[in-house]
Amino acid sequence: MASSSPAPLRVLTGITPSGTPHLGNYVGSIRHSVRQSVAAGVESYFFLADYHALIKVQEPALIQRSTLEIAASWLACGLDPERVTFYRQSDIAEITELTWFLTCVTGKGVLNRAHAYKAQLDKNIAKGEEPDADVTAGLFMYPVLMGADILMFNAHKVPVGRDQVQHIEMARDMAQRFNHQYGEHFTLPDAEIDDAVATLPGLDGRKMSKSYNNTIPLFAPRAQLQKQIASIVTDSRAPGEPKDTEGSALFQIYQAFASAEETEALRKAFADGIAWGDAKQVLFERIDREVAPLRARYEALMNDPAEIERILLLGAEKARRLSRPFMTSLRHAVGLRNLAAGRDSAGAKAAKVAKPSFKQYREKADGLFYFKLLDARGETLLQSRGFASPQEAGRTIADLQAQRGAALTALAAQLEPVDAQQARAATEALEALAEATSTTQGH
Ligand code: TRP
Repeated sequence: MASSSPAPLRVLTGITPSGTPHLGNYVGSIRHSVRQSVAAGVESYFFLADYHALIKVQEPALIQRSTLEIAASWLACGLDPERVTFYRQSDIAEITELTWFLTCVTGKGVLNRAHAYKAQLDKNIAKGEEPDADVTAGLFMYPVLMGADILMFNAHKVPVGRDQVQHIEMARDMAQRFNHQYGEHFTLPDAEIDDAVATLPGLDGRKMSKSYNNTIPLFAPRAQLQKQIASIVTDSRAPGEPKDTEGSALFQIYQAFASAEETEALRKAFADGIAWGDAKQVLFERIDREVAPLRARYEALMNDPAEIERILLLGAEKARRLSRPFMTSLRHAVGLRNLAAGRDSAGAKAAKVAKPSFKQYREKADGLFYFKLLDARGETLLQSRGFASPQEAGRTIADLQAQRGAALTALAAQLEPVDAQQARAATEALEALAEATSTTQGH
């Protein structure tokens, strides 16, 4: 039956598998995203951006290892593959295809201004080298691949760090240019920067980051976690001397894990002159309390890579139920078409060519309202399920007309099932219909 709940907000998150996840990733992204993914009215897409990883990492074993670790980490932290769509970028062939379509509507000058590329350029110039020394075309094209990730699923919101905001703006720009040229196909995405989410300091007090080599691995064994925490820099105040919470990496990390009361208690202990060794023990126990159950799940998953592979392939299948028909629409939109299918607009004959059509009817047997999508020869391409009212049937038809291939999955509950080939034929018919309508209405 046609559902009347508002359209869900699609939130999409990409994680580049190019290293081992650390506490900073957990606090800054994983924990928050997993919580948000179960919120009502949100449809979440999580993927491992392994094509992006190839830009930075050219060691095959490392790519494989890191993809496994990151997948295991997200699952261990509670990402539920039944509720979200969790997939590996390289399993979605349509993403590379869309990358090319977007490449063709993206100004080279726009890419010249991308921060990551420009930073490399400036560095080379400062060193007196060729500006493009060590710059691969992959680095240059990074924002286009990322645009394809986002636009493929028509994401509304993309939670990212500040360093990625420019990429989301570029994706918007690509969507706008494509829509302008070929009709409304893409949703314009928005970056979502959550300032409430903490950036965690690392062992040396600077931001915890792989590039500073100051990280604490999220799933280090208990003993190693304890050792790492013991190596967090502190000042030289002796036991009994009051300690500053301000600027203390130890305190800030504690705060990211503790409740407000726990944080207050440690603040008081600092003022009362807790020994650094004892403070580190408190921090260790607090982190371990949260991480230990996740670590157990992580270890179990890491011991069963076939299970992770299975989960990712199921996720890819779910994602491709959207990307395949959408790509069919996009191919049609740009003119990559079945040559035998009705020629478009140009030529007076076009108007006389038979068109696909919708047929609405009421079934005597059950009294419900139905529709079919017929091709130009009258063959059924789509068959609806029964609706309680003709208005509901009409609304579903309107959705199909507006969103074409992209609507097939969203409306699956209202339609009799179709296989991939039938979905493709239906998508092409919907495109042809949309086009015929826009040309008869004139421009
Ligand atoms: N560039 C992102 C990062 O380095 C990863 C990424 C790739 C991504 N594709 C994306 C993030 C799409 C959000 C949406 O963090």
